[in-house]
Amino acid sequence: MAAPPVVAVRRSPVASLLESLETLADPTRLRLLRLLERHELEVAALCDILQLPQSTVSRHLKLLSGQGWLDSRPRGTTRLYRTRAEPDPAARRLWLVSRDQTAGWPTARQDDLRLQRRLSRRSPAEAFFAGAAGRWDRMREEAYGRAFTDAALLGLLPGGWVVADLGCGTGHAAAALSPHVGRVVGVDQSAAMLKAARKRVAGLANVELRPGRLEALPMEDGTCDGALLLLALTYLEEPAAALREMARILRPGGRGVVADLLRHDRDDFRRRMGQRGFGFAPEELKQMMEAAGLEGAACRELPPEPGARGPALLLSTARRPLKPQKERS
Ligand SMILES: C[S@@+](CC[C@H](N)C(=O)[O-])C[C@H]1O[C@@H](n2cnc3c(N)ncnc32)[C@H](O)[C@@H]1O
Repeated sequence: MAAPPVVAVRRSPVASLLESLETLADPTRLRLLRLLERHELEVAALCDILQLPQSTVSRHLKLLSGQGWLDSRPRGTTRLYRTRAEPDPAARRLWLVSRDQTAGWPTARQDDLRLQRRLSRRSPAEAFFAGAAGRWDRMREEAYGRAFTDAALLGLLPGGWVVADLGCGTGHAAAALSPHVGRVVGVDQSAAMLKAARKRVAGLANVELRPGRLEALPMEDGTCDGALLLLALTYLEEPAAALREMARILRPGGRGVVADLLRHDRDDFRRRMGQRGFGFAPEELKQMMEAAGLEGAACRELPPEPGARGPALLLSTARRPLKPQKERS
């Protein structure tokens, strides 16, 4: 039977119905849909299972893809196909009837046997991930949650590091860092925030909290391997002073990380949160880091998280030079 043409324009419900009926009226396409609903397969596997030449299989795949029945993605030099996760609802209903009616079809049974033979040649991991790529992100979160990725990334930190959490607030970052580094020193001027932080880090022997101002840190020169300034800079009248202090407490080669608000114009938000500034432009923050005596500053906007209502954020990293800047030229 000749394949109907692929037409991209939006159709009336009747035209769509006729097209779906015509599509499903072909036994090869029924067999393909039955297979690809359960497994993501490449053309070679489909040719083997259907015992049809590649040109025939490819022609039907092209038509089914063009009509929105299939999704595909590249893998190496080939493509993997499977039925679309969210098909047209009317077409889906027709398909469910067709699937039901072909359940006892001997041809489909033969296809299933050849599919099983093919799949049994794959390792369990190959068989599973060949069909899971489109769903993996959701499955990963449902099965294991989200936090372990951050924990794994923190595991990249050198275990003996001393890290300063400047403007530590309620100790969110200090508590997260604690299992992964040698020592964390949190500094904040707010007694109330420090009280909440103490509660959070109770029992974490390597976290120390100190009252103090970011513009005059209660820490010796060069005593930290890393320093964080998370959501604190925009509260300061003189953010450059806090960056200079951050540079001062870092050892040569130590890393400073700033996360703060990307420049915005939401005065209501700024007032409500008690902030002084409207955040920073990436280039501005980068230059401020370098002016504070840090080198290799890089700054980028962070993609806003779904559901986050505040202004977008930016992230900047830099390091204290190994040699004092005046000695280097
Ligand atoms: C928005 S909170 C961020 C807390 C924490 N870094 C976080 O990510 O959740 C800002 C913190 O900076 C502190 N802070 C603001 N100005 C400060 C200053 N001049 N010296 C020390 N701490 C300051 C506040 O008390 C507050 O705890």
